[in-house]
Amino acid sequence: MGILGREPRVEDEPEGEIAAGARLIPRITIQAFCEHSQTADLIESAAHDRRMSKVALTTHNGGIEGAIETYRSNPTPNLILVETSLDPDEIPGALERLAEVCDATTRLIVLGHANDVVLYRELIRSGVSEYIVLPASGQQIVTAITELFAGDGAAPIGRTIAFISAKGGAGGSTVAHNTAWAVAQHLRQDVLVLDMDLAFGTTGLNFNQDPPHGIADALQSTQKLDQVVLDRLMSKAANHVNLMTAPVSLDQTYDRGERDFEQLVELSQKTTPVVVLDLPHTWEAWVRYTLSTVDEIVIVAEPDLANLRNAKNLADALKSLRPAETQPWLVLNKVGVPRRPEISPNEFASSIECALLGQIGFDAALFGTAANNGQMIAEVSANNRVNDTYRAIGMQVTGRSVPEAAARPVSLGLPGLFKKRKRA
Ligand SMILES: Nc1ncnc2c1ncn2[C@@H]1O[C@H](COP(=O)(O)OP(=O)(O)OP(=O)(O)O)[C@@H](O)[C@H]1O
Ligand SMILES: [Mg+2]
Repeated sequence: MGILGREPRVEDEPEGEIAAGARLIPRITIQAFCEHSQTADLIESAAHDRRMSKVALTTHNGGIEGAIETYRSNPTPNLILVETSLDPDEIPGALERLAEVCDATTRLIVLGHANDVVLYRELIRSGVSEYIVLPASGQQIVTAITELFAGDGAAPIGRTIAFISAKGGAGGSTVAHNTAWAVAQHLRQDVLVLDMDLAFGTTGLNFNQDPPHGIADALQSTQKLDQVVLDRLMSKAANHVNLMTAPVSLDQTYDRGERDFEQLVELSQKTTPVVVLDLPHTWEAWVRYTLSTVDEIVIVAEPDLANLRNAKNLADALKSLRPAETQPWLVLNKVGVPRRPEISPNEFASSIECALLGQIGFDAALFGTAANNGQMIAEVSANNRVNDTYRAIGMQVTGRSVPEAAARPVSLGLPGLFKKRKRA
């Protein structure tokens, strides 16, 4: 793969420079595969448009074949731009091969040299999001991307994943943060962690961040939340990892209305590909309501009786609350505490009738070091097998069911390109 030496653009544009009313494209990752250097230059110029200020864009050589080669062994971004000089009748076949190595959520814009309306219709019908005839202007490209991701009818790009402990201290926050980290590293997509434990949340501590603003400002904001406000209130902990930390001050109480978090979660979902909700271990109206709205729920439990009872109650309540949605997943944490009698993971999972997504061993030294340093497990111990577990959890809850990108089955395709195929 010939990268043209261009780094992702992740820097923030100063507030106020974004024209009022201009629709910002969300924090998506875009990869462009060009055949000609003029096209790469064109895309580079498009990347400087203000609407693209939150986008991470890289430009590569090789057109469709380059993209296929790359995605055989790499995760696909939110959007692929691909240039092709193939004859119109060869393009659909080449794109089919590309679709075979792409995740279902990835969108595709084709830049072609043939001004052919029959080809255009065929590509759109098969799931390509847009076909742009070259030569085109940077504006045309930005407008197409804006329509796709920030247009009136654009579906939210983000997947919301809530983590809740069956019992206080079972490790819901630790699993949430490390899973968020794993997703950011492996999918190279932006993740936003919302610390919803306003009084006692540990997101700031665990990522060693003490930002001046956070989730409380978003909830108290008198103005309508928009992406510019949200960006000001979140902090960046690492590449692709963004946080909304809890105030953790006890000067006030945090009594919340049922739908107080709704606007924040919805906006986060519109602007960030993966949204991780770190919920406190409580059962208040707003917790239940929030759980009823998210895409995925992970119950984190220790393998003892109180956790089992609570996890069973939670699983039953959640299943009846969201009969048509995905079932909650189970992660068992702190498995194998020395001398502690424990319920076997499989028995635990079958008792509460939830799929066991992963089990994480008890390791006081490892987790204690990570917590004390404000680091993720992958930073403390990069080769630890627990990182594979976090990665597998992350891939499953983001809809990539295979942990190894290289082992991705051909059942994944660009949306609609293979309508008969399973959507992840
Ligand atoms: N697998 C593990 N082995 C050892 N210690 C762990 C493990 N997982 C988490 N811990 C530690 O357990 C403590 C509680 O973890 P965490 O804060 O994630 O739990 P929680 O369920 O979110 O708690 P809360 O109920 O306060 O929200 C932390 O000190 C964390 O470092
Ligand atoms: Mg917690």
